[in-house]
Formats: sequence, structure tokens, C-alpha cells
Amino acid sequence: MEFNKIGLLGAGTMGQGIAWALAAAGKEVIIYDIKEEFCQKAVAVIGKSLAKAEEKGKAPAGTKDAVVSRLKPTGNFDDLAAADFIIECVFERMDIKKDVYTRLDKLLKPEIIIATNTSSLSITEIAAITDRPDKIIGMHFFNPANVMKLIEVIPAAQTSEETVEAVMELSKAIGKKPVKVKEGPGFVVNRILLPGMNEAAFILYEGLASVEDIDNAMKMGAGWPMGPLTLCDLVGVDIALAVCNTLFTETGDPKYRPAPPLKQLVRAGWLGIKTGKGFYDYNK
Ligand code: 3HC
Repeated sequence: MEFNKIGLLGAGTMGQGIAWALAAAGKEVIIYDIKEEFCQKAVAVIGKSLAKAEEKGKAPAGTKDAVVSRLKPTGNFDDLAAADFIIECVFERMDIKKDVYTRLDKLLKPEIIIATNTSSLSITEIAAITDRPDKIIGMHFFNPANVMKLIEVIPAAQTSEETVEAVMELSKAIGKKPVKVKEGPGFVVNRILLPGMNEAAFILYEGLASVEDIDNAMKMGAGWPMGPLTLCDLVGVDIALAVCNTLFTETGDPKYRPAPPLKQLVRAGWLGIKTGKGFYDYNK
């Protein structure tokens, strides 16, 4: 099965990176968000980054125009009907997801697969509210999604083997490395990575080291490509908190309880790079 026109819901941090990855691999992408300007902003960021890459000789001339020409921003939900595959990365709240899936179910032909990029919600619960539970699946990308090679492919309890195979194939077709994972809180990467980021926030809370020193320690002492608090700002402090909460509530294990700085930053609206402030201040 080949998919060439992908409908993408959500032009936030992940949506932007996923759109970039898909378009760079030659796929046409209909990017939908509640306001078309959110999608246009995402396309502009991708275009700007690729123009810079071309200037530096890191991308062949014409890359930017080719990639951007495949991105179709829209604020009209009905435009998604033209897609032959859907990737959903809307806000991580079940009430919002339920509304979106109900509308998608009505709009799309019954054979269309809908993959969710959720990092913290139950894919089985999402599948249960649709009339196509066998065609609902997790397709978990990693930030920055245009760079990171991994995709965790997570079948819900109801997902068919054909759907799993189709998503494994699509992942490979866009140059990614898919790994099949059974549904469980945090899947593989977040189950291991998020407790590390959470522990870094506890170390900060206990006053043991500064933000910079914690990050440098893990970069220089453990070979992390970026420090855990920088990474938290990159993925979004709200996303990190949501994953920690899922790990905690789903397992009941207190070792996963979220560190106070994560909760406080989210309450302040300081969600990391996307809001200009998180553990670091990006406006300075
Ligand atoms: N957005 C888009 N592209 C980016 C980027 C960003 N935020 N940051 C870097 N890049 C691109 C650069 O343009 C460059 O592209 P090029 O090779 O085509 O020129 C490439 O990434 C490498 O960048 P740099 O050479 O500037 O920097 P690094 O070598 O330090 O690599 C990095 C940057 C790949 C982000 C690296 O620091 C890294 O691997 N960090 C860890 C990322 C990680 O752990 N992600 C997973 C988070 S968990 C998650 O997303 C799951 C969710 O559910 C929470």
C-alpha cells in the first residue's frame, strides 16, 4: 500500500517536524489546524530553515521550493477528505481527541487509516470511540521529527495486522526506522527518557545543581546530545509533565511522580522553546 497524500492534524511543534519529514520524503501533506495561519507559520519556519541549509550548502539548491510546494496549509477541516492517510497530532487532551476523531470518522472513507502521534493517551481508548477501531494506530515520532530516525509503531488492542504493516511500510518509505511496541505507558523511549528528565527536575528542586550544570553533567558525563532540561524545553514542559502523569497514574508507582518544577512551569505557562521560556529563557 502506498500513501502519497497525507493529512496532518495539528501544526504545533510535532506537526511541523512531521510535515517536514513527510514532504522531504516526497509526500504531499495537507496540514490542518483550527486556524490556517498556524499552518502557514509552520510552513514558513520549515521554508526558512531549508533556505538557510541551502545557503550553507547543507541542502541542494531547490530543496526548499520542492519541500514547501508539497505542503498544503488549511484551516478547513473538510480538506482532509482528500488524504489517503491521516496523522493526528492535536493537543494531548482526550476530550479534544474524541471530538476530532468523531469528525474524522464522518469525513473520511472507511478504509483510511488514522495514526495518532500521542505520547501520553491510550490509543485503545481513542480507537474505541471510532467506527474504524482496526484502522487506528500509534505512530510516535520524536522531536525534532525531521531529524530523529525512530518511529514507535503502537497497535491498539483493536488494530488489525494490515494496519500495522501499512504503517511500518510508510515509516520506512519516509526514511525512518520503525519499531513495533505494544501499548503501555510511555512505550519504550518515553518510559526510559522521561524519568531521566523528571529526575533532572528533582535535582534542580533539591538545589543540588544549577540548570546549566545539570545539563552539562549529562552531556559531558553521559554523552547525551543535549542536557535533560534543554531537552524538556525542546519537547515542551507540558508534554513532559503529561507523560510523567501518565506513567504515574497508569502504574501507580510513586517513582514516576512528576517533579514540582515541571508542574510550576506549566502553571506559569512557561512551556519551553515554543513559549520562549521554560527551564531557560529564550528571549534573552
Ligand atoms: N528543529 C528542526 N531541526 C533541527 C532542530 C530543531 N529544533 N535542531 C537541530 N535540527 C537539525 C539541524 O538543522 C541539523 O540538520 P542538518 O543535519 O540537515 O544540517 C541537524 O538537526 C543536526 O543539528 P546540529 O548539528 O545543529 O546539532 P546537533 O548535532 O546537536 O543535533 C539534535 C541536534 C539532533 C536535536 C541533537 O541534539 C539530539 O539528538 N538531541 C536529542 C533529541 C531527543 O532526544 N529527542 C527525543 C525527545 S523525546 C520525544 O520527542 C518524544 C515525545 O513524546 C516527548
